[in-house]
Amino acid sequence: MDSNSLFNLQDYLNRRKELVDGHLFGYVPPCEGPASMLFEAMRYTLVAGGKRLRPICVLAGADFVMGLEPPEIERGDWAGSRDPGLADALLRAACAAEMIHTYSLIHDDLPCMDDDDLRRGLATCHKVYGEAMALLAGDALLTHAFFTIGQIGDPFKERALDVVRDLADGSGAEGMVAGQAVDLISERMGGGTESHLEFIHRRKTAALFRASLTVGGILAGGNAHDLETLRSVGETVGLIFQVTDDILDVEGTEEELGKTTGRDAELGKLTYPGLLGLETARRRSSELLSKTEDILQTCGPRGIPLSVLAGKITQRRN
Ligand code: IPE
Ligand code: IPE
Ligand code: MG
Ligand code: MG
Ligand code: MG
Repeated sequence: MDSNSLFNLQDYLNRRKELVDGHLFGYVPPCEGPASMLFEAMRYTLVAGGKRLRPICVLAGADFVMGLEPPEIERGDWAGSRDPGLADALLRAACAAEMIHTYSLIHDDLPCMDDDDLRRGLATCHKVYGEAMALLAGDALLTHAFFTIGQIGDPFKERALDVVRDLADGSGAEGMVAGQAVDLISERMGGGTESHLEFIHRRKTAALFRASLTVGGILAGGNAHDLETLRSVGETVGLIFQVTDDILDVEGTEEELGKTTGRDAELGKLTYPGLLGLETARRRSSELLSKTEDILQTCGPRGIPLSVLAGKITQRRN
């Protein structure tokens, strides 16, 4: 089955990004008064754009559980179409995932971490607002993510507790923060093995992808088997995403990516191309894609959107 011919991924991504952006800026509105600069700094990197892949994964996890097939999705249906309560819960969780991701980018770019000047095609948050305000904007986005989920109402309140657990797990000391810590420790100590590298990638990037797909499935009422499938697919898609990010740091351009390239080698980061070379990095990414496709092939047509998305992530140029 040629999944690509059954599903126009670009249309789908554009429509989902529009749906997310239509709510995201409302959850983080501008603010007058003494703290206005904090809100400006929070919104600066958020409004600058980005692919919105983590919130799209939240929505995709729910579509998967609801059994939406490509023709329905292409007609504009999504898991929240027929239930305004579920739509609100999903959009809150999706935008929360994006707030967490954007916070991680603001902090990742700070001089004490990767020291980058360019993000989403603009000067990085700390270049515009200063380091202290960028640090606080990141803190506030992370906290605001959980505030946004806390406003999910009945009958989804109970599921929202599981959403908090999974997103906190994916972004905290067992997930993204641990990956970022070991990324910096490896950079400073030099060396490192493939198992170190896998530890970093699984946590700094794959853990939030895994949590994003899973929380969409949780809100849509997924059973244990569906949630396990979403966890596995989220993990492999997240790993593909970071291997590709490392490849693009070598091969991509600043114009395409909206961020500085060549930084990983300059900083001595532990990456797939750095440790094993570009060819092996590409092979790793296609092995992970095959693993993802194998899992999804057992799920019938509802697995097609995720399978096509995973394929696109291996080939992305930004
Ligand atoms: C960049 O993520 C950080 C990584 C985990 C590699 P994205 O490439 O998804 O960044 P945006 O959201 O599109 O800007
Ligand atoms: C960052 O990885 C992962 C995060 C948790 C933000 P990178 O440091 O490789 O991300 P980029 O390349 O700066 O976007
Ligand atoms: Mg980094
Ligand atoms: Mg970085
Ligand atoms: Mg990178």
